[in-house]
Amino acid sequence: MNSLRIDPYEKSWMLASGVLLFVFLLAVGASVFYGFRLPGHESRIDPSRVTVDPPFAKPAVIERAPGRYDAYVRVQIWAFVPSEIKIPAGSTVTFYLASPDVQHGFVIERTNINVMVIPGHMSKITARFDEPGEYRFLCHEYCGVGHHLMFGKVVVERRS
Ligand code: CUA
Repeated sequence: MNSLRIDPYEKSWMLASGVLLFVFLLAVGASVFYGFRLPGHESRIDPSRVTVDPPFAKPAVIERAPGRYDAYVRVQIWAFVPSEIKIPAGSTVTFYLASPDVQHGFVIERTNINVMVIPGHMSKITARFDEPGEYRFLCHEYCGVGHHLMFGKVVVERRS
């Protein structure tokens, strides 16, 4: 009677699979522990209301506190509204982005801002602008024939 024999080669692959499974379970555990999750209800937005309801009907940059700004930007075919955002150097800006039509992107050069703007969800991301100058932004998700027209800039003005 011969016992179950496993080829050493197969055994090493079984071990590798076991290790991978462990890593995946660890990742799932960590995501629960650190609270990674999909956008919740509070960041849902009805795409058909984006151009009608505040704050995206008349998007604006609002100073919430000294040096802290909220920038509401409507991201639509094929423009950013507003396409120019002026703030003083040293400001922290939280961007709120919503699309009334298709999927767009929002990336600002020389920052860590790089998000997708998906119809139905409001994207929110924060960055600090210390260096005066112009920071161009653009759409980096192909969104149709006018995709290349979607750009704008954050103008960071020197504090006087
Ligand atoms: Cu919007 Cu590409």
